[in-house]
Amino acid sequence: MLLFTITSSFVNAQKFDSLALTPPMGWNSWNKFGCNVNEELIRETADAMATNGMKDAGYIYINIDDCWHGSRDSLGFIHPHPEHFPTGMKALSDYIHSKGLKFGIYSDAGWETCAGKPGSRGREYQDALTYAGWGVDYLKYDWCNTEALNAEGAYLTIRDALYEAGRPMVLSICEWGNNKPWEWGAEIGHLWRTTGDIYHCFDCVIDHGTWKQWGVEQILDMQEGLRQYAGPDHWNDPDMMEVGNGMSVNEDRAHFSMWCMLAAPLIAGNDIRAMQEETLEILTNNEAIAIDQDPLGIQGFKYESADSMEIWFKPLQDGDWAVCFLNRSRQTQQVEFNWQAKNAIDKLSGRKASFEKTSYTIRDLWLKKNIGTTNKPLKTTIPGHDVLMLRLFD
Ligand code: GLA
Repeated sequence: MLLFTITSSFVNAQKFDSLALTPPMGWNSWNKFGCNVNEELIRETADAMATNGMKDAGYIYINIDDCWHGSRDSLGFIHPHPEHFPTGMKALSDYIHSKGLKFGIYSDAGWETCAGKPGSRGREYQDALTYAGWGVDYLKYDWCNTEALNAEGAYLTIRDALYEAGRPMVLSICEWGNNKPWEWGAEIGHLWRTTGDIYHCFDCVIDHGTWKQWGVEQILDMQEGLRQYAGPDHWNDPDMMEVGNGMSVNEDRAHFSMWCMLAAPLIAGNDIRAMQEETLEILTNNEAIAIDQDPLGIQGFKYESADSMEIWFKPLQDGDWAVCFLNRSRQTQQVEFNWQAKNAIDKLSGRKASFEKTSYTIRDLWLKKNIGTTNKPLKTTIPGHDVLMLRLFD
């Protein structure tokens, strides 16, 4: 009997399976709005997502990041900020759900969040119950103010708390890669941040003294060696997107394409209520999204790199491949790629593109048209900080 009890409680402690068989897609408030969040913004964002083509393209989560909090009541229950969220989280969640979307929220494993709001430390089971009662579908769980906590243990606690609360929620582990979450995260959450915070630049580092923010190229370089850890229901998260937040259209396109090659979560971080047509076109490019959302869930890899030009490959279902040429320099560069002289072998997945045996049709995913086959060398030019993103199919 004792053995039975121990076994069954052990079996009950787990993450909610199969909530992220492909990388999660949605929107998060932080990159654009920081602490300026309120229910009007969230409702308007849900309205926009439901009608502007993003929902049809697969975006589903509306995630409020830090600073939604008010204070805890005398029993310890957390409440949203009374002026910024006057109708409360349940009403907001119902609104989001009424649009066919899902609702995400943010907390922190420490005493306080990164912006100094109440954290969940010591209140994990209570907060999990509260979120479940609000109808939350996704929890991003941050790592500020966690002195003396062990990361794996802290995330395990919130995982178990969510499971016991009984409402399936995606768990987004956000400890910036400090404690190698890729080594333990798959059993605990559905995605884990691999780096510190992104910044809306293509190639820069913003030094805040005690912490740094990273440009797209810097974050890309930090993904090396991590692809083996990602797959359906457990993804590397190179941070939320900065598309539409101030980079050039070329840079936004390259950023988005590379996140797709990485099978990264596609969490928009711009003001989707009022964006340029070009931004929406990037965010809703179905063929690029299909690379990210490919059911095999194999993260892409850097195949070759020379003179600021990187060539990335990603195996796809049915023997297709995504190939992305990334021009890291600011200057337009010529590309000449003789498929016949190449063989892309992915040791990790055991997949191989045999160009001498198979003539693949090449589709340009930004031009949205077929541009030839792999029988002939590819010759083209790529503008600075831009990509040529292709799908090869038999
Ligand atoms: C950390 C996270 C960010 C954001 C802020 C909120 O820096 O990495 O993504 O959630 O906290 O304060």
